[in-house]
Amino acid sequence: MIIEVLTLFPEMFGPVIGSSMLKRAQDRGIVTIRVRNIREFTTDKHHVADDTPYGGGPGMVLKPEPIAAAIEATVEANAPTPLMRVYLTPDGEPWSQKLAEEFAKLPGLLLLCGHYEGVDQRIRDHFIDREISIGDYVLTGGEIPAMVVIDSVVRLLPGALGNSESSRNDSFSGDGLLDYPHYTRPAVFRGHGIPEILLSGHHKRIEEWRREQSLLRTLKRRPDIIERLLPTLSPKDKEFIEKHRFKRQNDSDETSEG
Ligand code: ADE
Repeated sequence: MIIEVLTLFPEMFGPVIGSSMLKRAQDRGIVTIRVRNIREFTTDKHHVADDTPYGGGPGMVLKPEPIAAAIEATVEANAPTPLMRVYLTPDGEPWSQKLAEEFAKLPGLLLLCGHYEGVDQRIRDHFIDREISIGDYVLTGGEIPAMVVIDSVVRLLPGALGNSESSRNDSFSGDGLLDYPHYTRPAVFRGHGIPEILLSGHHKRIEEWRREQSLLRTLKRRPDIIERLLPTLSPKDKEFIEKHRFKRQNDSDETSEG
């Protein structure tokens, strides 16, 4: 896969794409990540990339010409590999594991990072395929969101994770439930033990326990996910949920357990 990033702050990416899984995936040839500075596509003497908004108001808007030139040069440099052109913005489509899985199947991505009040709307209308938000909060620019997209996509590419890491059981992956709790040695840490079942060696019962823990955690933290998944769950899962939903309702009448 090819990932191209267009930004006014290319130096922000070095430490992130040069460490850990992202570094390893590039070293293994699984992904090529290139970061280009939008300012290099300005044509005026002072390399100005932004301007005041038409109609007045606060902030600055990124000028369309350098961004269009940067997108065109980047698309051309990668031909015939097509790049899906993505703009990171708080008013975009919410990022999710499902979208990460979809993006991981693409041959190429171009991630455009905005700053200030964003980019001229004509770029969004005519040069961008998809707009993504990483959450309902506003960051200073699209750089951190672009890194979030890169990390969550690249770790899904075949061979990117080591044998000891796996994306199979991640929260949100597969069936969409949250992950179950994980433990490692020592068996007693500062007086806190671990669930006994994990020491039993009964693989089938451990699997069942993990499933129940995933269901419980999702029920407690993300009831919206349980409601959405309910039609797809097994009769056994449904029964477990009904039992605990009922129990939790009763509990909350008497105690403050949330
Ligand atoms: N740029 C600023 N905030 C953002 C967000 N939440 N998601 C994507 N891009 C952004």
